[in-house]
Amino acid sequence: MMRSFFICMSKAEWAKQLIMNLGFAKRMSRRFVAGEKLGEAIQAIKMLNAKGLFATLDHLGEHTTNIEAARKATQDILEIVDTIYQEGVQSNVSIKLSQIGFALEEEICAENLRIILEHAGKCDIFVRIDMEDSSTVDGTLKLYHKISQYFSVNNLGLVIQSYLYRSEKDVMELSQDDTHIRLCKGAYKEPADIAFPKKSDVDSNYDHLVKILMDSALAHQTPAGSPDGHIPPTPAIATHDEKRIAYARAYAEKINLSKENFEFQMLYGIRRELQENLVQEGYKVRIYVPYGTQWYPYFMRRLAERPANLWFLMTNFFRK
Ligand code: FDA
Repeated sequence: MMRSFFICMSKAEWAKQLIMNLGFAKRMSRRFVAGEKLGEAIQAIKMLNAKGLFATLDHLGEHTTNIEAARKATQDILEIVDTIYQEGVQSNVSIKLSQIGFALEEEICAENLRIILEHAGKCDIFVRIDMEDSSTVDGTLKLYHKISQYFSVNNLGLVIQSYLYRSEKDVMELSQDDTHIRLCKGAYKEPADIAFPKKSDVDSNYDHLVKILMDSALAHQTPAGSPDGHIPPTPAIATHDEKRIAYARAYAEKINLSKENFEFQMLYGIRRELQENLVQEGYKVRIYVPYGTQWYPYFMRRLAERPANLWFLMTNFFRK
């Protein structure tokens, strides 16, 4: 119930206006967000890199409502690519299609994506398309297939969510072309006719999809990720769930998939010790580093994932 509440709040404009003006909420969001400025995010990435962690940088923003804003978001992403390249940080980029015009016009979004991929390709920096709510999955896959005809699939990837019933079929199809897939559980509120309502089913589907991804990586002899952190290996196991991580490790060992040929991914500020422990054990780990002024919906989804975060928030409130 708390999960639904926070996800509804993440979309409510009135709540956004209210909460973004609360100083303590902004401070609290800094647990999950690296800062408002690109320079702050780059500093955070340098610290992660020093610990052996790779990064993927996300300029927060979604559901852009006009063409100019979508163009501006595209330009901002080009700047991110340049900065990663110039600063020599071990990072690539994550984007949301709704940020670059997905809800406005297909052609505009496709053109903005083409501009981003062309530029990122020149710097050999990988771009990952995040997956948003279920209404966007068909359109995202369609655009991915269309654009991947013109760009190296080694520089482009997307995200699959284990809570959706359809994901097995999607993973099977995408794996045929050795697509770069980040597997996550899914962060949005979805109805029971399209997504598993029970967490235990989402978890077991997660393990099932890990198996398909790893089998596929082995069959394709997928290349290792690049040492500069720009290009990931094809499967990315994005979770903080120790049981899912244990399953992935055990399955990779069972089929002899090398530690170089897949990576774990986690969110900035979540399970830091686990992130570092995996690196100590020789695994590749990439941290999703969000930054920017549009932190509200991202922050609400993080609260939705773990209601205990709410108590932390309230404690801070009553201290003020
Ligand atoms: P689960 O929710 O079961 O959590 C396992 C454990 O992790 C918890 O017990 C807790 O210890 C810790 N934890 C998890 N979330 C926490 C939080 N918010 N605060 C504190 N501790 C927390 N989703 C999506 O729909 N589209 C996308 O593109 C992406 N992209 C993405 C990238 C990366 C790198 C990650 C790690 C995740 C995503 N997600 C996402 C989010 C994902 O779908 C999911 O909501 C979260 O990862 C939480 O699920 P877990 O797999 O961690 O498991």
